[in-house]
Amino acid sequence: MIVAIDGPSGAGKSTVAKAVAKELGFSCLDTGAMYRAIAWRALQDGVALDDEPALGAIARTYDIAFGHVEGDPVPRRVFIGDDEVTDAIRTAEIDRAVSPVSAASAVREALLDQQRRIGNAGDYVVEGRDIGTVVFPDAAVKVFLTASDEERAHRRVRQNVDRGIGSIDYDEVLADLRRRDEADSSRATAPLRPADDAVHIDSTSHYIEEVIDQICSLAREAR
Ligand code: DC
Repeated sequence: MIVAIDGPSGAGKSTVAKAVAKELGFSCLDTGAMYRAIAWRALQDGVALDDEPALGAIARTYDIAFGHVEGDPVPRRVFIGDDEVTDAIRTAEIDRAVSPVSAASAVREALLDQQRRIGNAGDYVVEGRDIGTVVFPDAAVKVFLTASDEERAHRRVRQNVDRGIGSIDYDEVLADLRRRDEADSSRATAPLRPADDAVHIDSTSHYIEEVIDQICSLAREAR
């Protein structure tokens, strides 16, 4: 069974997806981490971010895998080929590089195969931008998770402060977030948009626990 969670960055997808997976006893797949891993490899190899054939070759060549830290059921570790990139894919440099990488059709095609292979291996909560529309259009549960731009920017600033990386200037973060939304929503292949049958949840004025409970209820009803 697949629970698909799509939405813009900063809406709380990762936190919610991991908690829902834990609660339901499902595995969890963070597809954004896969695009980030390809962007990391491209930067390492000096591949230009507009060189679609070269980016596609990276995505077809390297397997992306997820791993657990002992005692934690959520797979937070990320590998591309033999390299662990768990922390390396969360930098401001990757934030900037990943938009053009994820807009490349050749990359999306190659990752689509990997994502379906992983998700079809069991019960999964899968989070991303095109999970309910393209990757798993038959998902049992589809959620489109949003929050206001301002709330998402506040959350991102707090996250950057905690991690000690990225901008902590609210206006800059807000502008960057809107730029990325625009890029994700307007690209030709698999743009960010809700599936027709997605349940819309706005996390702006709800406690994250309420959102998690709501999605778990949807999944239990769909079983
Ligand atoms: O969720 P995130 O911020 O880690 O995603 C990183 C980038 O990858 C973001 O620019 C959107 C893109 N992405 C995508 O195009 N399709 C997905 N299924 C997941 C992420």
